[in-house]
Amino acid sequence: MIGKIDHIGIAVSDLDAQVTFYRDVLGLHFEGYEDLPDRGLRVGVFLVKDVKIELLQSTSPDSAIGKFIEAKGEGIHHIAFCTADAQAELNRLKEAGVKLIDESPRPGAEGTRVAFLHPKSTFKVLMELCEH
Ligand code: CO
Repeated sequence: MIGKIDHIGIAVSDLDAQVTFYRDVLGLHFEGYEDLPDRGLRVGVFLVKDVKIELLQSTSPDSAIGKFIEAKGEGIHHIAFCTADAQAELNRLKEAGVKLIDESPRPGAEGTRVAFLHPKSTFKVLMELCEH
């Protein structure tokens, strides 16, 4: 079962400039930066009540975010939903005919397990399942 929205991922070119905007202009609560070198990412995390906004900057040209920005430019990249059991949810969605990027969950940030659904099956919105 899908619970609440965990986070919204936004692809950005200039992380520091966007952190300044989200923190100082919008006035959102800044949690801090997180470096994910294995995924070629530097992330700025904001918390809006219990929903995170993750600003995703590529640190490597062949990262998923680097390729996304090259093809489509900056903007909303994905929506992540919380689920108590990501594998069960993947199985259910696959059964329902949804194309999966990940057949089983893999390690995400902060000890989570994450899996992505293919945008071809979700009306072009990249969706992530996130198990805490
Ligand atoms: Co995500």
